[in-house]
Amino acid sequence: MRDQFARNIDYLRLSVTDRCNLRCLYCMPEEGVSLKKHEEILTLEELHLISQAAVSMGIKKIRLTGGEPLVRKGIVDLVAMIKGISGLEELSLTTNGTLLKSLGPALKKAGLDRINISLDTLDAQKYQQITRGGDVNQVLDGIDVALELGLEPVKINCVLVDGFNNDEIHKFVLLAEGKPLHIRFIELMPIGEGQKKQDGYLPLEPLKKQLIEAYGLLPSSKVKANGPADQFVLPGGKGTIGFIGAVTNHFCHKCNRLRVTADGKIKPCLDSGFEVDLIGVLRGKGSQKALRDVFLEAINAKPSGHNMNLWEYGQNRLMSQIGG
Ligand code: 5AD
Ligand code: SF4
Repeated sequence: MRDQFARNIDYLRLSVTDRCNLRCLYCMPEEGVSLKKHEEILTLEELHLISQAAVSMGIKKIRLTGGEPLVRKGIVDLVAMIKGISGLEELSLTTNGTLLKSLGPALKKAGLDRINISLDTLDAQKYQQITRGGDVNQVLDGIDVALELGLEPVKINCVLVDGFNNDEIHKFVLLAEGKPLHIRFIELMPIGEGQKKQDGYLPLEPLKKQLIEAYGLLPSSKVKANGPADQFVLPGGKGTIGFIGAVTNHFCHKCNRLRVTADGKIKPCLDSGFEVDLIGVLRGKGSQKALRDVFLEAINAKPSGHNMNLWEYGQNRLMSQIGG
């Protein structure tokens, strides 16, 4: 499916819950958020129907997100249901990793292809601080489980917050040296709680230059370049190092994605409040044809780009209500 700007839209991020077992400082407010009622959230069957419609229109890759997707009841069944859709080339998931040790084997068995794990610090106390209570050892165990199961390439998302974790960059590089992990440093975005943290915003371009020099990083084609990361080989290392300059770098011109929220709205752009209602059409006894029409409307509404570089924020959802 091509949009108005000739971009090929073949990637869907499907949020399966707005709930999370952590409360990252830049993502959710401390007191939590008013969660959607169960009946407002897409059922497993509805998520399956939506995925079918999306794949029939040319979506090749689906990523399950949250909140935290592994707290959704029935997540293993859902993976099996979506994996069964013919024409889908890759099913992946973005998780905070805390529940991977217990759920990883079943997810793999259900057909999950690969995984991205969010991890902003390797220090137990700092992890507890930034997630407001999380245990970093659960995530580290989860990463090892993902590697053992071959949910590869395993990518690690590390949001850089100035003054909090930029002193750990070297530790993350060492992690990629010893294990086949693909570290991606990400710029903090002015979405939801992130907008209140402009002090922590750290532009990645200077850091990228420093690391290229310090470690002799080499441009990489090793990790499939289907995402926004600028990925580099770490000579002598097992993994790679990447940079996602979500704010400063406009990769909008190659944006290939749509997002569906857990309450059934299609978001043509992460940074825009504009949404297209999907759940209403679905529950109005929507046929696959009706769902496809809603997807077409959303694709046609994809803007050419965002204004995050102006620290502008065009919507009222938190990141946990979008799925990153
Ligand atoms: N800026 C950048 N990344 C964010 N995430 C959540 N909120 C923000 C933000 N404001 C990241 C999480 C996770 C992914 C889904 O989105 O760390 O890796
Ligand atoms: Fe949960 Fe992820 Fe948000 Fe942290 S960033 S609170 S793990 S949804």
